[in-house]
Amino acid sequence: MGLKKAIVTGGTRGIGKAIVRELATKKIGDDFFADVAFIYNSCDSCADELVAELTALGANVKAYKTDVASFGDVQETVKNIIADFGSVDILVNNAGITKDNLLMRMSEEDFDSVIRVNLKSVFNFTKAVSRQMLKQRGGKIVNISSVVGIIGNPGQANYSSSKAGIIGFTKSIAKEFASRGINVNAVAPGYIKTEMTESLNDNQQNALLEFIPMKRMGTPEDVAKTVLFLSGDDASYITGQVITVDGGMVM
Ligand SMILES: NC(=O)c1ccc[n+]([C@@H]2O[C@H](COP(=O)([O-])OP(=O)(O)OC[C@H]3O[C@@H](n4cnc5c(N)ncnc54)[C@H](O)[C@@H]3O)[C@@H](O)[C@H]2O)c1
Repeated sequence: MGLKKAIVTGGTRGIGKAIVRELATKKIGDDFFADVAFIYNSCDSCADELVAELTALGANVKAYKTDVASFGDVQETVKNIIADFGSVDILVNNAGITKDNLLMRMSEEDFDSVIRVNLKSVFNFTKAVSRQMLKQRGGKIVNISSVVGIIGNPGQANYSSSKAGIIGFTKSIAKEFASRGINVNAVAPGYIKTEMTESLNDNQQNALLEFIPMKRMGTPEDVAKTVLFLSGDDASYITGQVITVDGGMVM
């Protein structure tokens, strides 16, 4: 059994998968840190594999198929998760997409879909868990932003807007919920080795490494360990913050 109950969006690969693994298998004494409900939208076999992998380790993990951009579906799914798990103590808003293009070539659809999946989803899930967290007077919400939400990036006007929006949302809700024992923070990863960044060619990767004092890309585990810290009791006096996990890229 996990000590806490957690929801992680976009759990079947990359950073989200590392977060699910970290929260579900971290041992606190004889217990696991958290039972984890993770959200995925397409790959059923990926979800089944992750549940099987972690169940074999004794962890309690369940997969829920939901489009994070759909307000109605998210409210329904979170209701089901709370019925299945009994409560929700931790929400990690991780799901995200990119549809990069220079502004002159960016379609209205590509702007809207990135905002809906990356930013509106954070509203959808935060709203869905808020009644339960306010009632229990406690909770941790961790939103995955990005360094480009802080410094911008050519070709990513949609993505960087969504990630900057997450930072504004995080700070506003941190202020709304602070007196109710709910911490709301953002993690801003730099360049992390996942399928999302796989499409960068060697030249692009080398150019990026120029700007990273640590001269390496981050791993999903680098981000997951920060999320674990912000989800735990040791981070109880931290709220409304944006923690960069970027090898020193933005400082
Ligand atoms: N990889 C990086 O370098 C990097 C850097 C900064 C921030 N981030 C952010 O970290 C998060 C995870 O990124 P990643 O690199 O693991 O990406 P990824 O593409 O490997 O994973 C994204 C996950 O989100 C899920 N998802 C996408 N649309 C969804 C929808 N409509 N409904 C439900 N789930 C959906 C996908 O299924 C996938 O599991 C994203 O928010 C991303 O913007 C990544």
